[in-house]
Amino acid sequence: MRIAIFDSGIGGLTVLHRAVKSLPEEEYIFYADTEHAPYGIKDKAEIIGYSEAAVDFLIGKGCDIVVIACNTATSVAADILRKKYELPILGIEPAVKPAVEHGRGSRILVIATPLTIREEKLHRLVDQVDEHHLVDLKEMPKLVEFAQAGEFESDAVRRYLHEELDGLHPEGYECVVLGCTHFNHFKEMIREIFGRDCAVIDGSGGTVRNLVATVQKKGFLSAGSLSIEYYESGKLVTDQKKLDFYRMLLERLDKIDA
Ligand code: DGL
Repeated sequence: MRIAIFDSGIGGLTVLHRAVKSLPEEEYIFYADTEHAPYGIKDKAEIIGYSEAAVDFLIGKGCDIVVIACNTATSVAADILRKKYELPILGIEPAVKPAVEHGRGSRILVIATPLTIREEKLHRLVDQVDEHHLVDLKEMPKLVEFAQAGEFESDAVRRYLHEELDGLHPEGYECVVLGCTHFNHFKEMIREIFGRDCAVIDGSGGTVRNLVATVQKKGFLSAGSLSIEYYESGKLVTDQKKLDFYRMLLERLDKIDA
């Protein structure tokens, strides 16, 4: 079986990383639309167009299933893509539901891209589960830029996180929901700000459970061994430096999740 994992950039590695743990013997195509990243500050129509182009490409590569490993693209394009294409198209959404369900009644912060924060999909989700009005929403677009530039632990990142978050009084939160897959690369720094008693969660676990269930339901046959091909906006990545960078980030995610 050939599984496509699609994001605007390296955020999707979070989902790839988890998918490989649950389905270790498959062919993966990782598609980062780096030419058009960041998605979260663009308008809806543009993201729908980029997502369609990515899915067309991935179907051309023989993928059996597409996982949109991007909260932004899921919120604006997933329903449209599902109507247009026959293959299973899975998405990711901010883990607001588990945050509220497992909460102890303190505040919950969802951080995501401006487009995800603006979109109706997130507001509908929050309205459904946030009975006691505990959920706050905050856009943090610069984290995507830092991640795409390969900057994860710099002083500039730390300064940005403090500037954006200190004023919200981090001590009052029991959970931070990472509503953008890029933000997982900053999990350690976010944990430092909110303290060890605050949970930091994201939607990739739910997405991968959905992937496993869909694969079983469809009866797709296992490829028998692991392979991962990386594409950037339709071009196969062959540059060793870039491949090493992707590998380094997957190993780093291993440590972050440990
Ligand atoms: N990683 C994406 C998300 O989960 C989008 C980041 C971006 O390109 O703005 O929303």
